[in-house]
Amino acid sequence: MKHTDIKEIFSDKAFIGTTVTVCGWARTARDSKNVAFIELNDGTTLKHIQIVIDKEKGIEYSDEAMKLGASLCVTGTVVEGRQGNPEINAEKIDVIGVCPPEYPLQKKRHTLEFLRTMPHLRGRTNTFNAVFRVRSVAAAAIHRYFQSKNFTYVNTPLITGSDCEGAGEMFQVTTIGYTKDYEKEEDYYADDFFGKKAGLSVSGQLEGEVAAMAFGKIYTFGPSFRAENSNTPRHVAEFWHVEPEIAFAELPEVIETAEDMIKTVIGEILEKCPEEIKFFDEHFEKGLTQKLTDLISNDFGEVTYTEAIDILKKSGEDFAYPVEWGADLQTEHERYISEKVFKKAVFVTNYPKEIKSFYMKQNADGKTVAAVDLLVPGVGEIIGGSEREADYDKLVSAMKERNMNLDLYSDYLDLRKFGSVPHGGFGLGFERLIMYVTGISNIRDVILYPRTVGNIR
Ligand code: 4AD
Repeated sequence: MKHTDIKEIFSDKAFIGTTVTVCGWARTARDSKNVAFIELNDGTTLKHIQIVIDKEKGIEYSDEAMKLGASLCVTGTVVEGRQGNPEINAEKIDVIGVCPPEYPLQKKRHTLEFLRTMPHLRGRTNTFNAVFRVRSVAAAAIHRYFQSKNFTYVNTPLITGSDCEGAGEMFQVTTIGYTKDYEKEEDYYADDFFGKKAGLSVSGQLEGEVAAMAFGKIYTFGPSFRAENSNTPRHVAEFWHVEPEIAFAELPEVIETAEDMIKTVIGEILEKCPEEIKFFDEHFEKGLTQKLTDLISNDFGEVTYTEAIDILKKSGEDFAYPVEWGADLQTEHERYISEKVFKKAVFVTNYPKEIKSFYMKQNADGKTVAAVDLLVPGVGEIIGGSEREADYDKLVSAMKERNMNLDLYSDYLDLRKFGSVPHGGFGLGFERLIMYVTGISNIRDVILYPRTVGNIR
């Protein structure tokens, strides 16, 4: 069907006085004696275009056109309406798909919880219209950022034999269910599709490092899977992961790249999605625009893990989880540091080696590794990264301490044998970035189909 995007009509005054055809879904409809109005939305913009039906001119339309959710194609003349917004004086109204009264989105506002029960329809609300456009603009901005800095985009495998984070959160990939007929686990895996235990990747980093050792600077942007049994507003079992990896770089360059990328991407969102950000500012987080503007114009904070523990201990706060050097920072601690102490985005660096992954560069103190997390107010951790251990012997000993099967990581270890270089990178949780940028507080509301414990649709 040849038609014009409603977004185009709103953004170009040249449409005034011309005849256009628009297609969309009826959002509101009002009928009076001489005139009827339909607000039509086609998903290209938050704005609805008002269709004016002048009954005195004998314009024909069916009752079905006045039903919320009906899909329509309307041809008419664009005129300047009230508040300078374009409207369409209808000449022809075709109902493409009728929408019966059981259509659930009849009210003007629904709770996000209610909308979560209908992932297939919630995109037709203003909130999800705005969320998914910001998501799309953010994805394009991320690609643009890395492409402009000579990073090569690589696609790392989703099915893998090695658990990158070593946290035992891999979903298993199998074509045969395990049965008691197998006495030994190895025999079962030997019969399975790959002849080995396989799972869905929790991170593309290990293969990302392989690519960075050839192409210098790479990034991945794809799904990661985690069978974490944590039913929180910040965790999903399938999330989108942006993972740059930089050769010939130490931790400060990793941090610099993360800050520059976040600022550039948010700057682009502010520029390209002003309507959407204003909408979120009004309905979800008062002061959001200012928060984002401040973020891109100020330096991020930086604190070591050890300093952060000190700050938390001296805070006098009554945390649910005890604060001890050596224990991981909990969400409440991360939020205290970014919201109460720094009141902005803050990098926490150099964590105890015991609570971080095997691949991180071991610091000279023998106790910490060159890790970095980026914490932001309202969400907590959105980035986790590190400089990688580039020394073969040190890496092997870290793996042995963790009782890892070295055979599964022979490619990874080879990188430390053949022209090893200092390198590092990070992982950005794409949904967490979208939460921060939109002020939406539950990760289930920034992804089309959230996968969480006990929930798949
Ligand atoms: O801190 P994580 O576990 O780091 C890694 O996976 C590294 N291999 C990344 C790297 O250095 N290339 O995860 C990185 C980010 C987290 O900061 C978080 O934003 C996001 O991934 N993330 C999740 N997002 C949603 N749901 C989950 N279950 C997530 N787990 C991690």
